[in-house]
Amino acid sequence: MRLYPALVLGALVLPLAAFANDPHSYAQPDQVVVTHLDLDLKVDFPHKQLDGRATLTLDWKNPQATTLVLDTRDLKIASVEAVDAGGGTHALKYALAPADKELGSKLTIQAPRRPHEVRIAYATSPDASGLQWLPPAQTADKKAPFMFSQSESIHARSWVPLQDSPAIRFTYDAHVTAPKDIRVVMSALNDAKHPLDGDFRFDQPHPIPSYLLAIAAGDIAVRETGPRSAVYAEPSVVDKAAREFADTEKMIETAESLYGPYRWGRYDLLVLPPSFPYGGMENPDMTFATPTIIVGDKSLVSVISHELAHSWSGNLVTSAAWRDIWLNEGFTTYVQGRITEALYGKRQADEETLLAIRALQKGIGTMPANSQRLAPEPRGVGADDSLSSVAYDKGSWFLRTLEQRFGRKDFDAYLKGYFDHFAWHSITTEQMLAYLRANLIDKYPGKMGWDEVKDWVYGTGIPKDAPIPDSPQFDAIDKERAAFLAGTLPAAKLDAKGWNTQEWMYFLDRLPDVPKLARMQQLDAAWHLTGTRNAEIGMRWYVHAIAAGDKAAWPAAAEHMSRIGRLYLTLPVYGAFAKTPDGLAYAEQVYARAKDGYHPLTRQAVERLFARAKAKQDRIAE
Ligand code: BES
Ligand code: ZN
Repeated sequence: MRLYPALVLGALVLPLAAFANDPHSYAQPDQVVVTHLDLDLKVDFPHKQLDGRATLTLDWKNPQATTLVLDTRDLKIASVEAVDAGGGTHALKYALAPADKELGSKLTIQAPRRPHEVRIAYATSPDASGLQWLPPAQTADKKAPFMFSQSESIHARSWVPLQDSPAIRFTYDAHVTAPKDIRVVMSALNDAKHPLDGDFRFDQPHPIPSYLLAIAAGDIAVRETGPRSAVYAEPSVVDKAAREFADTEKMIETAESLYGPYRWGRYDLLVLPPSFPYGGMENPDMTFATPTIIVGDKSLVSVISHELAHSWSGNLVTSAAWRDIWLNEGFTTYVQGRITEALYGKRQADEETLLAIRALQKGIGTMPANSQRLAPEPRGVGADDSLSSVAYDKGSWFLRTLEQRFGRKDFDAYLKGYFDHFAWHSITTEQMLAYLRANLIDKYPGKMGWDEVKDWVYGTGIPKDAPIPDSPQFDAIDKERAAFLAGTLPAAKLDAKGWNTQEWMYFLDRLPDVPKLARMQQLDAAWHLTGTRNAEIGMRWYVHAIAAGDKAAWPAAAEHMSRIGRLYLTLPVYGAFAKTPDGLAYAEQVYARAKDGYHPLTRQAVERLFARAKAKQDRIAE
């Protein structure tokens, strides 16, 4: 029996931490929780909408409750009805509140008889924040339209009316219709052999939080990569993708050998068009991934190790609120490193770790104090702001510190026990800490003080004795870079022929913020960075070339920005342009042309960046 107070005591007490107050949802899980979702949707490309019904199965926690409060954003609600045990229905009164910018519209349903099921007929908006609709021209093969969801953090509510909080878990099934020849996939078991007859059914038998709801539809082909994995992608991309991700089964086996069985059945991958706003998204059974990691040499596949790792840290054991997101991302980044080490060696893993550490060391001091904490004070933190390097890289650094102090053997056993103990639950930082104290810190006394743990979790900055891996390769690159910048080593003489992707990233990352133009021109002449197809290298190169005033790089930078909607690869290039009035004007032109192909999140981020840059330039002009 697990020691999980709220569950052990069941209905006797209000579940405490399991339903910790989530400031990013209107749901009232102390009154009622959704336990199952049944979707019946039509993918309507001409109207850019999902249209249909969501039937929610309810577990009423308060026997006196009279309302069901749901999260929605930009949904057109057609009707709300209660469904009785025999399938009969009757209309329920409801009110849709005016939209809050962050949270959307609270939907309050009058349900004084506490029905077992409530059915909502609705349609999404063409501008739904969690969906992108691409016309054929914006796909790789240009034949069919494509659509996909991105629900994390709080965008599921823009395509399903539900309790949109990671503390609440439900199973789901779905019936989805689409035009003939279009394949629909969801974050559930997918059948590679399903006929493209426009009629799909899905079943997700495990309880998941709403941010893991996912759907995509388009001209999607499939290639097997192993006994329980396949790659889904547009036909012209699928073979390259299957080669790049050929190690997927080995990744699953590695993670299983460390943390116990993969519990989700299949692990399939969907490669999206380049406008996908993230590197990857750990949708259960079907990770969504950016095509920018397909570079031909597997050098960026740690994104897949990362999304796979979420099958334990995140999808199995879930942060209860966005403030606890480091429990997802920090743990996952740690596990990702372990998979990378096992498959591609310690050198590769250490280089990836060091890239993150150096960037965090550079950046963390410039962040507001609250954002430097693994578990920040919840006030004023936007749900999507959780994608900060603190959750990922300070979080994983903390776990590497624990590993080092307690030794790999005991720490591995601890972490496996943690995943087993909290499996299928959403937990807070404080629940994680209580388990850590009992099962690691106090179990092996003298290895790490509780104050040190609290400093990692609630303190600002990075604790002083945080362990940093050695990398002779990176040390050599530091020397080469210094000599090159000092003018004692010509660009053509850099020992860069054998540099892998991460070594190039490291070289470029630590160039001065505003390098000398002549140096950047020499570098480009020798190594042809402008126009690179490796977008990790490209992003870093363009940022420095633009800062140096290298206008020759502008058109290729514009091509990179127009092609790639992945925020992390595109926003920094916009940021580099936005530092000067000329550059800003150019970036605005690029955006005007690229905008139609961008995801709503990318649009919003670029527009915010422009607004900030303009305000800053206005202040300078005054
Ligand atoms: N779950 C995240 C993506 C995410 C986080 C979306 C928070 C919205 C809000 C995913 O697992 C992730 O971390 N992706 C990274 C991959 C990387 C760190 C290897 C990304 O997209 O860059
Ligand atoms: Zn992640």
